Amino acid sequence: MPARKIAVLVGSLRRDAFSRRTANALRLLQPPTLSLEIVEIGELPLYNPDHEEKTPFPWVDFRDRIRAADAVLFVTPEYNRSIPGALKNAIDVGSRPYGKSAWEGKPCGVVSCSPGAVGGFGANHALRQCLVFLDMPAMQQPEVYIGGVDKLIDAEGKVTSDKTREFLDKYLHHFATWIERNIRAG
Ligand code: FNR
Repeated sequence: MPARKIAVLVGSLRRDAFSRRTANALRLLQPPTLSLEIVEIGELPLYNPDHEEKTPFPWVDFRDRIRAADAVLFVTPEYNRSIPGALKNAIDVGSRPYGKSAWEGKPCGVVSCSPGAVGGFGANHALRQCLVFLDMPAMQQPEVYIGGVDKLIDAEGKVTSDKTREFLDKYLHHFATWIERNIRAG
């Protein structure tokens, strides 16, 4: 069976983002059953329903990329105990036009990270609130809140802590199995 295509959304637009490092770390650790690919969100115009009359190309392209994926992995930092606006915008863009959401039924995982101790817990759960409405089955366990991420993953996406590497490896294997159980036909 070919590897499942996983659209990875990185919540930060920052050049040297720890969340991008984390996404790269997950890509380096991916098992052969998964193919993780980052789908960029930084160039998406802010969602405005008026613009559906002449849909901006970045929205069309983004929606197509999400539709082409078997599953989605969100890797996000926390902004003010929630998700960054750029990630919320991407979620909104993918969810419309009404009745044609690109997200519907896609299995997904949520990974949050922060240099702080709480590991983006607030963002992780704010995102999960959106996933309920989007009808995206979200893996519940293991939960991933990476606190002190700046000390755990280097600029190349190498995980410098054995314990964290083993945990992320376990997470990805669990995610792969879980996707097979939750993927919808069609
Ligand atoms: C933050 N930061 C932050 N950290 C946190 O743990 N909880 C929070 O609520 C916030 N709030 C917040 C708001 C805004 C506007 C910014 C810019 C930052 C700090 C944040 O975790 C830190 O800047 C990370 O480096 C951001 O993630 P990336 O860009 O490294 O992925």
